[in-house]
Amino acid sequence: MPHPTLYVARLLPAPVMTAITERFQLTSSPHVEPPRRTDLLDGFRQATAAICTLTEHLDAEVLDAAPSLRVVANYAVGYNNIDLDAARSRGVIVTNTPDVLTEATADLTWALLFAVARRVAEGDHFMRAGTWGGWEPTQMLGADVFGKTLGIMGMGRIGRAVAERARGFTMPVLYWSRRPVPVPGPDNQCLWAPFEEVLARADFLSLHVPLTPETHHLMSAGALRQMRPTAFLINTSRGSVVDEGALVDALTEGRLAGAGLDVYEREPELHPALLRLPQVVVLPHLGSATLSTRVRMGMMCIENIQAVLEGRPALNRVV
Ligand code: GLV
Ligand code: GLV
Repeated sequence: MPHPTLYVARLLPAPVMTAITERFQLTSSPHVEPPRRTDLLDGFRQATAAICTLTEHLDAEVLDAAPSLRVVANYAVGYNNIDLDAARSRGVIVTNTPDVLTEATADLTWALLFAVARRVAEGDHFMRAGTWGGWEPTQMLGADVFGKTLGIMGMGRIGRAVAERARGFTMPVLYWSRRPVPVPGPDNQCLWAPFEEVLARADFLSLHVPLTPETHHLMSAGALRQMRPTAFLINTSRGSVVDEGALVDALTEGRLAGAGLDVYEREPELHPALLRLPQVVVLPHLGSATLSTRVRMGMMCIENIQAVLEGRPALNRVV
C-alpha cells in the first residue's frame, strides 16, 4: 500500500519529520519559513491530510483546492487560523494540540511575569552595554511578585496551570471566565470574580482565552483603563485579545506599569512603540517553544491524522 499523501506547511523538529516521512508521502518539501499562498494551494491539491501551523490561514479556497482532503491537524492549541465552518461544510476534520503544550506555555507566562516585574531584560541589556558602575541603592528598582494578586482571564488548561504555579509565591488568584470552573488547590486561593473586578484588583493580569469574535480586543482601551497604574499585563494567548494601540497608549501615559508580550496583533509585525518602551518585554511567540513540547505536538498531529485515515475517531477533534 502506498503511504497516504500529507501536506506539511512548515519544517517541524527533526524527530517529527522523521516520523512523518516513515508514514506519509509528502506533497511538497516544507521549509522553515511560512509557505507562499500559491505554494500552500499547490501543497494541498494532492493531500489527503495536512499539518498546518498558526501562520497558515486556511479558508474555503484552500480547502476547495484539495478534493481528497480528510483531515487538517493544526500544530497549535489555538485554531483561529482555520475557517471552521468551511471545514465543517466540506466534511474535513480539524484537530489541535491541547494538553501537551500547557505546562510549557504556563512556564513562559511566568518567565514574562518575572521579567517585567524585576526588569530582567532591561538589566541584561544594561550589562551588555558595558556601563555598569557597580551596586547602587536605587538602581533598577522593580515590583514585588511574592504575595501579589494574580488576575487570570480565561481558566482553561493553560490558565489553570498558571494559577497552580501561583501557590509557590503565595499569590491569591482572581480569575474571570464565562463560568466558574473547578480549580485545584486550597480553598479561597483561587476565586472567580467578575471581569471588572479582576481588572481592578490584579497586580499582574495574564490572558488565557482563545481568540474568538467575543474575545477580540477583550482588553480594550476601556478595560485597560480599569487596571491599576502599578499593574502589569502578560499575554501569551493571541495578540488580538488586546487592542495593541490602546495598550501602547496606556503604557506611554503611565496608566499601566508594564507588559510582557509573546503574541501580537499582526505577527510578525508589532507596534513600533513597544520596542521603545523599556517597561515592555517582547518575545517572538515562544509559548510552546521547548523541544520536547514541539515534538509532542508533532506526534499528536500524526496520531490524529492516522486515526482519521484509519476510520477511528480523532483524539483531539475541534470540528
Ligand atoms: C500557539 O500559539 C498555540 O496555539 O499552540
Ligand atoms: C489550552 O489548552 C487551554 O485550554 O487554555
